[in-house]
Amino acid sequence: MSRTVYVNGEYLPEEEAKVSVFDRGFLFADGVYEVTSVLGGKLIDFAGHAKRLKRSLDELQMANPVTEEELLEIHRQLVARNGIEEGLVYLQITRGAADRDFAFPKDATPTIVLFTQAKPGLADSPMAKTGMKVISIEDQRWGRRDIKTVQLLYPSMGKMMAKAAGCDDAWMVEDGAVTEGTSNNAYIVKGKTIVTRHLGTEILHGITRAAVLRFAREAQMTVEERPFTVDEAKAADEAFITSASAFVMPVVEIDGQAIGAGAPGPVTARLREIYLDEMRKAAV
Ligand code: PDD
Repeated sequence: MSRTVYVNGEYLPEEEAKVSVFDRGFLFADGVYEVTSVLGGKLIDFAGHAKRLKRSLDELQMANPVTEEELLEIHRQLVARNGIEEGLVYLQITRGAADRDFAFPKDATPTIVLFTQAKPGLADSPMAKTGMKVISIEDQRWGRRDIKTVQLLYPSMGKMMAKAAGCDDAWMVEDGAVTEGTSNNAYIVKGKTIVTRHLGTEILHGITRAAVLRFAREAQMTVEERPFTVDEAKAADEAFITSASAFVMPVVEIDGQAIGAGAPGPVTARLREIYLDEMRKAAV
């Protein structure tokens, strides 16, 4: 069945939704995006995603074509029109269409596109019980990873490298330390301490990360925001990742070596439970 998608003010069947071949998102990856999950037909942490979207747009001096209220209404309309109980809403804003030129155009109208992806069973993923396997790869992305841009080719290549190695994802490494996963933030647990890389331009400031660290601290867990190495990960008791689509997901192997018991650990399981419980309660 065809989805209803949103393009520049209109709700359209996906076959009829079009953007220009001159769109700078297409020509220059001159665009930003957000992914918000849907549980029980409601949006998880919409406010967090809206805030980061504004930051990404501001960092790129890109105009925002919609207010936060309009954005919420579009999200809700798409969830309702497509009957999404569990899944994702993808949002992309680009600088718009203009004759090809590296300089930003002065008068382009931003392009805004949103669509849904139904993911039945998203919160009850079998991987939460088995855990994921990751490989480490060199981080070859650009230097402003704190801006959520649509230039995702290297993360995509990383995912393919992981698949070729029989694994689920890749953790990227720069100057000897793990930055993040291809589309998620990375964590290790040693004893009672959760370690994850500090915020900066080297990683995306995950919306799930912010919530999980808040819940961890509220549950009296110790959190250290600092770089960690692959060797530290190999010697950790547990490891996990967070993202809007995976929530909190255990990592049980890195570069072929089991982490801890080689099975999802109690700290990860607890954080996943708290995160899902609290975020369902606060969903809009
Ligand atoms: N990815 N780091 C990177 C590089 C990401 O692409 C993402 C999200 C995250 C986690 O951020 P958040 O918790 O706000 O989802 C970290 C999304 C889910 C994606 O590209 O599909």
